[in-house]
Amino acid sequence: MIRFESVSKRYDSGAYAVQDLDLQINAGELCVLVGPSGGGKTTVLRMVNRLVEPTIGRVLVDGRDIATLDRVELRRRTGYVIQQPGLFPHLKVADNVASVPNLLGWDRARVRARVGELLELVGLDPAIYAGRYPHQLSGGQAQRVGVARALAGDPPVLLMDEPFGAVDPIARERLQQEFLRLQAQLHKTVILVTHDVDEAVTMGDRIAVLSQAGVLQQYDTPAELLGHPATPFVADFIGADRGLRRLAVTPIEVTDLYTPPVVGPRTTVDAALAAVKAEGTRWALVVSDEGRLLGWVDPAGPPDGPRQRDGAQTVALYMRPLTARVGLDCSLKVAFAEMLQNDAAWVAVLDGDRYVGVLTPDTLHAALRRSVGGEPVQVIS
Ligand SMILES: Nc1ncnc2c1ncn2[C@@H]1O[C@H](COP(=O)(O)OP(=O)(O)OP(=O)(O)O)[C@@H](O)[C@H]1O
Ligand SMILES: [Mg+2]
Repeated sequence: MIRFESVSKRYDSGAYAVQDLDLQINAGELCVLVGPSGGGKTTVLRMVNRLVEPTIGRVLVDGRDIATLDRVELRRRTGYVIQQPGLFPHLKVADNVASVPNLLGWDRARVRARVGELLELVGLDPAIYAGRYPHQLSGGQAQRVGVARALAGDPPVLLMDEPFGAVDPIARERLQQEFLRLQAQLHKTVILVTHDVDEAVTMGDRIAVLSQAGVLQQYDTPAELLGHPATPFVADFIGADRGLRRLAVTPIEVTDLYTPPVVGPRTTVDAALAAVKAEGTRWALVVSDEGRLLGWVDPAGPPDGPRQRDGAQTVALYMRPLTARVGLDCSLKVAFAEMLQNDAAWVAVLDGDRYVGVLTPDTLHAALRRSVGGEPVQVIS
């Protein structure tokens, strides 16, 4: 756990970089710092490994005031991915990654094994990349090496200063997802700095928004921050499209779903027609006895369609596949993307194999409204 207690940092110029900061990052959580350039983000980060000392206040790691800890020891326990890739240019990738294990005095075989393991972990084939120099890497590859190097000594705390800053948006999203996958296995206590609100929302368990001169404006979960910005600064910083961003942090709930009429594959077309008419709709879903979604059917048939429905036949004969599907554990954003990608009015929601309900544009909108406590949301009309 990392704890800032009334921490200020004032440089000799007299200007504050950080002011009266109280912040607690629980063990295993990923805290994102966002804010404008010069807002004190890097300063906050560097106070955790004592590259910057607070002017006033204390920083505690696992309950111990770090001012009383040995600096070298502290830095070994703290992985640091610096702003810009920041690799040692004259060292090969393997030696960059090995720098902390070497400092720790590990024997060669153990260092080699660790380097290989870490390069694999960040998605770089050691056979190809271990022997390269930093200038022979793309921006994204260099940043992966930076992450591998920070993880090398298996530090419980990881400080990441714009770790994905130098890569294009597509590589960036992939790196974010890969890092989240890693974090789900490693449970590091992470402070990650970014300029990018979308990155903060995607990555953070909690987000701290710092304004100019290092004043903490809000410290909350992404959903709270987007739903209830505490100050005009925060509202302005996270932007007018926060409704859209909220999609990413709002889970699907069963109560959001529309449940159209459901028929079995052996139901007759006549019976299905009666079922949809009773519901005042036109389409039914076809679900197996085991609860698996088989498809959808329009029992009345297209008004001037090519094929007349035979009322005595089973719906299985006329059934169509429902390709837009998401898991119940997805965010509304994923569901919305699925809807757009399939150009579908219905996205089936599944709990494992079991069909649960469908999301429609209307129910998606209602879910979003629920998530912001009934405020109108200008996202989907
Ligand atoms: N060594 C220093 N001496 C004097 N002022 C400094 C020093 N380091 C940083 N500052 C000032 O402290 C403030 C905060 O800087 P910091 O690097 O923490 O900002 P940041 O939020 O990381 O910005 P960016 O997003 O541009 O990286 C800035 O106004 C900066 O000019
Ligand atoms: Mg910075």
